[in-house]
Order: sequence, then C-alpha cells, then structure tokens
Amino acid sequence: MGKWLRLPAVLRRALLLRVVLALALFLPPLIRSGHAEARGDAKAGKVVYDKNCAACHGPKGSGLGARSILPNFADAKYMATRTDAELFDKLSNGGKGTGMPAWGKVLTDHERWNVLAYIRTLSGP
Ligand code: HEC
Repeated sequence: MGKWLRLPAVLRRALLLRVVLALALFLPPLIRSGHAEARGDAKAGKVVYDKNCAACHGPKGSGLGARSILPNFADAKYMATRTDAELFDKLSNGGKGTGMPAWGKVLTDHERWNVLAYIRTLSGP
C-alpha cells in the first residue's frame, strides 16, 4: 500500500485540490499555444499573404465590401466566431466551389500557420 492511501482523507483532498488548481492555472497557456498567434509567425505570414492572398482578400483582409462573400479579416467580432481549426481547414482544403483555393499542397503547414497568425493580427487592437 502506498503512503498516499494512509494519508488522512482531509489531507488527500487538499492535495488533490492543489493538483487541480495547478492544472487549471497551467493548462490554459498550454492550450492557447495551439492558437495561430502562438503557432505561426505573423511577420513571415505577411509575406505569404501579400503574395498569395491580398489579390482576393484585399491588402488589409477586409474583402471587397459588405456584399462580398469574402470574409472580413479586419472585423474582430466576426473573427471571434472563427476558430483556428476552422480557418486552417478552409485555408488547407479551400472553399470547394466558393472561389477560395485550397492551399494545402501549395503552402507548407508552417506557412499556413504563419499566414493565419498574420490574419489574426488584422483585427487586432
Ligand atoms: C481567388 C481568390 C482567393 C484567394 C487568392 C484566396 N482566397 Fe481565401 N477566400 C476566398 C473566398 C471567395 C472566400 C469566402 C468563401 C469561403 O469561405 O469559401 C475565402 C475564404 C477564406 C477563409 C475562410 C474564412 C472564414 O471565416 O471561414 C480563409 C481563412 C482564407 N480565405 C484565407 C486565405 C489565405 C490565407 C489566402 C492566401 C494564402 C487566401 N485565402 C487566398 C477567395 C480567395
């Protein structure tokens, strides 16, 4: 039998609480690091964007006005509704008929995260 089981229940609970607290404190930054801003280099992404994306999405990512089907990357409210996974999927696989090309075979994973990191900055403060 381990020492753990011989500890009084109150102490065991206190220890468990600490573990849970530590996890609650340290996990969010770990999860956040999966996000585009953390995974990609926005500066390098700007180069990719200006070369491959700006022609359709506009130099500032705001598409072509209200009636366009282009998303407005400069609209923070809109961008907050889009997860990195959704953006990465659309970027990689394209719009399948919408006009958005599939970049999965054109750009590396790294370049796609960079350009998404850059797109995230377009609605930034
Ligand atoms: C030929 C025009 C064209 C080019 C070039 C283009 N896009 Fe798009 N893109 C579109 C259109 C149209 C849409 C909207 C329709 C859709 O979501 O499928 C779109 C949608 C997207 C979306 C989805 C946004 C959302 O909220 O779902 C992302 C992300 C995106 N583009 C990123 C890029 C990036 C990054 C590049 C450059 C590597 C790029 N696009 C190049 C036309 C283009």
